[in-house]
Amino acid sequence: MLKKLIYRTVGILSAIIVTVHTNAQTAARSSQSLDGKWQILVDWYGIGNADDIARNKQPAGKNEFVEFSFDNSQTLDVPGDWNSQRNDLKYYEGTIWYKRNFDHQPETGKRSYLQFAGVSYRCEVYLNGSKLGEHEGSFTPFTFDITKSIKPGKNLLVLKVNNERREDAIPARKFDWWNYGGITRSITLAKVPDQHILDYFIQLKKGSLYEIRGWVQLNAKQQQQTITLEIPEAHIKKILTTDSNGRAQINFSAKLKLWSPGQPKLYTVNIYTANDTVTDQIGFRSIEVKGTQILLNKKPVFLRGISFHEEIPQRAGRAYSEADSHMMLFWAKELGCNFIRLAHYPQSEQTVKLAEQMGLMMWEEIPVWQGIQFTNPQILSKANNMLQEMIKRDKNRCGIVIWSLSNETAPSPQRNKVLAQMAHDARLLDSSRLISSAFDHFKYDGNQILIDDPLSESLDVLAANKYMGWYAKWPAGPGNVIWKSNFNKPLIISEFGAEALYGNHGPADTASLWTEEYQEQLYKDNINMFNKTPFLAGVCPWILADFRSPSRMQAQFQQGWNRKGLLSDKGFKKKAWYVMHKYYLQKQKQ
Ligand code: GCU
Repeated sequence: MLKKLIYRTVGILSAIIVTVHTNAQTAARSSQSLDGKWQILVDWYGIGNADDIARNKQPAGKNEFVEFSFDNSQTLDVPGDWNSQRNDLKYYEGTIWYKRNFDHQPETGKRSYLQFAGVSYRCEVYLNGSKLGEHEGSFTPFTFDITKSIKPGKNLLVLKVNNERREDAIPARKFDWWNYGGITRSITLAKVPDQHILDYFIQLKKGSLYEIRGWVQLNAKQQQQTITLEIPEAHIKKILTTDSNGRAQINFSAKLKLWSPGQPKLYTVNIYTANDTVTDQIGFRSIEVKGTQILLNKKPVFLRGISFHEEIPQRAGRAYSEADSHMMLFWAKELGCNFIRLAHYPQSEQTVKLAEQMGLMMWEEIPVWQGIQFTNPQILSKANNMLQEMIKRDKNRCGIVIWSLSNETAPSPQRNKVLAQMAHDARLLDSSRLISSAFDHFKYDGNQILIDDPLSESLDVLAANKYMGWYAKWPAGPGNVIWKSNFNKPLIISEFGAEALYGNHGPADTASLWTEEYQEQLYKDNINMFNKTPFLAGVCPWILADFRSPSRMQAQFQQGWNRKGLLSDKGFKKKAWYVMHKYYLQKQKQ
């Protein structure tokens, strides 16, 4: 029953929201950015009337007035969170109405789509006064076909955006990062031919170095349509034919330069039909597990990772620009990483694409974080929808090697059942990557920690978040821990660390929590533990930089920041940074 309900809900949702690739500016396609300054109305009590606001109602006569009017209203930048754009919105959780006009020149034989890269957290979209639909979830894209609602000349686009935390949201009411609200990623008006390439998936088959698999999906369910797939640099040209669903299978072998952190090779891939062309930069690599090892292109790889939130600490705001992505990823490369954990949600597409170009493997996850009601079918359909939207967006990004389903969810029969089903569904959508999920519930026995979470059966890679020396004492002295597992699978320590206020110094013993020296020693103790964990395939310190969180209000050291960063909120290196950097240099040489 539960599963049926989920699929029915998700099915309806995905029917409304299609994905149209317009990453290629070609003659067949065009796209217009709708970024910039949007007029806004802060709806402090959430009482705005959608019918009036969506059509930007004007006063009937000079003795009339409209209270919720955009005329002469203030503006906010799109993309961008509202919290960091205005002091009075720093903690704002509620509704803000956004409005802008745009011009449309009709083109025969074209369809028009509005693409939203991310709106935090839920929104309703109105075009020329009529509701197009709504979306829930801050971190995945959605698209509306507006071919029938767009009109020649001026069009009025209004969004109702709300970021209130709710029990039935994902994440739910309590989470350890800032609840940024707003149109935090770009909006694009895309025009594509009536008959167009709707979606495609091209990757190496899991465990193979030369078998290329995938498919191309047209928007029309027409069979016997010819599609050409070309990889010019490799002198590859394949003629594909669609089935009765408008889908053509890709299945051929080729010896290509494989993508890896040391050689992040991407190929220009052209896909075209009689009236449409899409171009993408695609890498080919194989990722698989063999016993307790992770194999990249058949060779064991150790994941030298770092976690980070989608936030620029110096601006105390959500990251959204190319420059933001560059800075975070440069920091990761400087630390010596070949792997990043995009915590705790799908980060921007430009961050994912840039990381891939820079040779960083990625863990990407949906924000199923700690307290989620696994018995609530509505919540489960939202989680499934976020999983589908994440995989749909990034399935062609070879840099992503792990999809993760959840973070620190408490073991229960219902949670195990739901996440096992989601692992199964993720593999149906994409059989080329590894599936994981970060645990933090373990049994201790003296200095032994046992991984026995039953969900592990459904995962390819085990992942453990453990803060020994910070939230709990070391069970038998610093670094004196032996990890045990009931499963013959690789382990990633997906979180560890301690808080330190940059510039706060003292002796490295428990008397001086919050000092750089305490954090530094804790990192050394963790590295001692890593060196005694034979089935360890990677580590991911928590976290790259101090980040904002309303959960962290300790007056002397936190003031609304989680201080577990290896970098301060200004980007300065703490002493622990150098410990991790040295460890990664040594691992790189092994
Ligand atoms: C948890 C959680 C993080 C959180 C961290 C912390 O493991 O996954 O989101 O920020 O611990 O307590 O700092």
